[in-house]
Amino acid sequence: MTKERIKDLLDRGAPGEDVTVEGWLRTVRHSKNVSFLDVSDGSCMSGIQAVAAPELANYEAEVRKLTTGCCVRVAGRLAESPGKGQRYEIQAGSVEVVGHADDDYPLQKKRHSFEFLRTLGHLRMRTNTFGAVMRVRNAAAHAIHGFFQERGFIHLHSPIITLSDCEGAGEMFRVSTLDPDRTPRTESGAVDYSRDFFGKEARLTVSGQLEAEIAALALSNVYTFGPTFRSENSNTSRHLAEFWMVEPEMAFCDIQGDMDLAEAFLKHLAKGVLESCPDDMAFFNERIDKTVLETLTDIVDQPFERMTYTEAVAILERSGRSFEYPVSWGVNLQSEHERYLVEEHVGRPVMVIDYPKEIKAFYMYLNDDERTVAAMDVLVPKIGEIIGGSQREHRLDQLRQRINECGLPEDEYWWYLELRRYGSAPHAGFGLGFERLVQFMTGLGNIRDVIPFPRVPGFAEF
Ligand code: 4AD
Ligand code: MG
Repeated sequence: MTKERIKDLLDRGAPGEDVTVEGWLRTVRHSKNVSFLDVSDGSCMSGIQAVAAPELANYEAEVRKLTTGCCVRVAGRLAESPGKGQRYEIQAGSVEVVGHADDDYPLQKKRHSFEFLRTLGHLRMRTNTFGAVMRVRNAAAHAIHGFFQERGFIHLHSPIITLSDCEGAGEMFRVSTLDPDRTPRTESGAVDYSRDFFGKEARLTVSGQLEAEIAALALSNVYTFGPTFRSENSNTSRHLAEFWMVEPEMAFCDIQGDMDLAEAFLKHLAKGVLESCPDDMAFFNERIDKTVLETLTDIVDQPFERMTYTEAVAILERSGRSFEYPVSWGVNLQSEHERYLVEEHVGRPVMVIDYPKEIKAFYMYLNDDERTVAAMDVLVPKIGEIIGGSQREHRLDQLRQRINECGLPEDEYWWYLELRRYGSAPHAGFGLGFERLVQFMTGLGNIRDVIPFPRVPGFAEF
């Protein structure tokens, strides 16, 4: 009698088999002469019902006292279930209480709001929704590695602590061991970082891109998949202070190749999750957003639309809409603009390229018009930007000029510039926000509900 995951029992079990399951009680019903225990172990959406009868030695003393949240080990015989909606149940031969749950267990059967569940980071993974989110995250992560590994990309572990600011936006968390009450100062009164742990001002990375470029210019095709940190004070449903980013980087690649990879990538991920999590996806489609299945199927089947920023602005201007933020050539596209393009104009994902250089990062390839850069944003329904990428500036002079135009300190980018002197090559890449992807796939409205432990302004509990 071996212990099995509930998912395996439901998939492969045969009636009459002796089985053992371990898990937590989602619901418990004690009727006159029998107790029904709904055991869940997180392996799949459904739990399995164990039927416990008074013949059990500990029935009165323990089983009848079981409540929602208790942890149990049930051994017994698998039987076809007469109940509707469940294939099997377990006729319990023994029920062992592994961990009792106090009466004030906060996850009772009623539906709780997502806001309330955020205060229960230590328990919310036991709910249907968060169990499903965790399984979809897992399937998506697996599909990400599969996609790149099949194509011969090398997984690069980029550093989390860094001295360089990739996006040049300065929204970084400092990493320091200096005593905040007694910071050493230089003669001019500035903080003396030479006495800090790394001898320089160090911060948490906003992106692994610059290091991925180093790797691509040696290993050709690489990808990173790691945590990134942004201290932007955005209290929105699409921003986290700590999020996971997937960043492929390819040598000998231009913006067209970059777009092709991004499209193939999102198609692969949608297909992978639809195939490996059908029950979880059906749940999201029924309970959270009635369009997620159709949207994901469309991603797989339909080609993405491609347009330049200049075309996008023209479409927005012609739309006759009065946007909260007015549009004209040169402005940053806001999420209302992105959503108009995707949801109303095209009706499927859109890739926008060639943005004005003033609104994009210093490292992007300057196009021949000298006004735009070979940037690429992939926009999807409900989310807006899910991927941001570009062809990189691989020409030393142009790069140096952009660093200066952006007011960035050239000496801090010394090695990045040197890469352009020692065997430079055209290269391109992008970053996919992993939580935006999971949000898109599950239809959940708030990004805080697709990461196990959200970090946002004012909140880093658990
Ligand atoms: O567009 P971003 O800032 O691009 C980069 O960081 C590049 N260095 C990537 C590259 O070319 N290798 O960020 C990439 C993606 C965005 O499209 C978005 O999906 C996600 O990261 N993202 C966030 N997700 C959650 N919370 C935030 N605060 C995010 N900021 C960006
Ligand atoms: Mg971006």
